[in-house]
Order: sequence, then structure tokens, then C-alpha cells
Amino acid sequence: MSSKQKNIVILISGAGSNMAAIVRTAQAQDWQGAFGARVAAVISNRPAAAGLQLAQSLGVAAGVLDHQGFDSREAFDAALMQQIDRYQPALVVLAGFMRILTPAFVQHYAGRLVNIHPSLLPAFPGLNTHQRALDAGCTEAGCTVHQVTAELDHGPMLAQAAVPVLPGDSAGTLAARVQMQEHLLYPQAIRDWLRSAACR
Ligand code: GAR
Repeated sequence: MSSKQKNIVILISGAGSNMAAIVRTAQAQDWQGAFGARVAAVISNRPAAAGLQLAQSLGVAAGVLDHQGFDSREAFDAALMQQIDRYQPALVVLAGFMRILTPAFVQHYAGRLVNIHPSLLPAFPGLNTHQRALDAGCTEAGCTVHQVTAELDHGPMLAQAAVPVLPGDSAGTLAARVQMQEHLLYPQAIRDWLRSAACR
């Protein structure tokens, strides 16, 4: 184990189910003992995000930075960086954080910023991925964990999981099937990242 504490900061905008899967896995697998890593904080850009209470119930500090209080994307991202950097994070995890990030933000966290996207990238970057997969007649759908770069949903891939599209699927039933995989894939990908970071 590396001696330096590795703080993970998770950014959310909504339900926080991926955040919860990561926190629960970190606790169950003792990432602190194994990698010197812990989820130090959860930050939401939406005050009403249900994931905030969920984070607190899991014993993780939860904070809000409401993007509506800022005049520009740049000003919000600068304030968000300040809030995140209080924790000196080894890794910043986007878990349903529904904001387009500025180049300055992405550059600041280069190499330590990851995202999960609900499609088999490079297919269907952007929004409404499940309906678009159904409309395209795909027989498989899934999710991708990737490093974040300046181009939306295009960074180097870290892990992917596929599920079948079943007859009669709606965007909702497909999303639920994909989310079950997200909750396994994202903690696993972060664990792999921590394992390789332990040698750095
Ligand atoms: C997840 O399905 C995640 O893949 C998606 O938002 C959902 C958040 O759910 N992210 C994106 O669409 C990013 N482009 P959660 O708040 O329950 O984790």
C-alpha cells in the first residue's frame, strides 16, 4: 500500500446510485486498508439531489455547489475546483454529474478524472442513450467507464459492460438493466485504477 492518503471526490447531480455503489464497495472491500483510499466527499450541483442524503447516510461528507448561483460555466467550474481541491483528491469521479465541463476543469484534473456513461461508447455519446439504442435497433446496450478529456464522452476507455436488448424493452427497462451493470462496473474500474496507482 502507498503511504499517501488517496482521497476520492464524487460529483453527482441526482439519485446517486452509482455513488452509493462505489462507497459501499469501498467500505466492503476496505479500500482504505488496501490502497490508502477513501471516498472523502460527495458534491452535487443540484441542492435537491437525492444522492446527498444517501451519501450522508453512508457516512460521507456531502456538499452542494448550486450552478444556478453563477453567471458563467467558467465561474462555476472555478468555484467547484476550489471546493474539490480542499480534499486534495487523487481521483475525481463523475457519477451522473450532468454538466458540461470547461477545458480548464478537465485540464486541472487531467489523468485523475473519470466518468461513467450509459452506452457502449463510442456509440451514443450525449443524452437519451437508451432510446437512441432502441431506435437504432441495437441488440446490445451497456455502459462505459472512461477518462474524461475535453471532448464530451470521448476519453480513453477504462472498462465496459454489455447487456442484451430484450424484445419489448422500453428506454426505462433497458436503463434499469444497464444500471445494474453500472453498479458493478464503476466500483471495479475504480478499484483497478487504485491498484495501478499504488505502484506510481
Ligand atoms: C447513470 O446511469 C449514469 O450512467 C448517467 O446518469 C445516471 C446517474 O444515475 N450518466 C450520464 O448520462 C452522463 N453522461 P445515478 O445518479 O443513480 O448514479
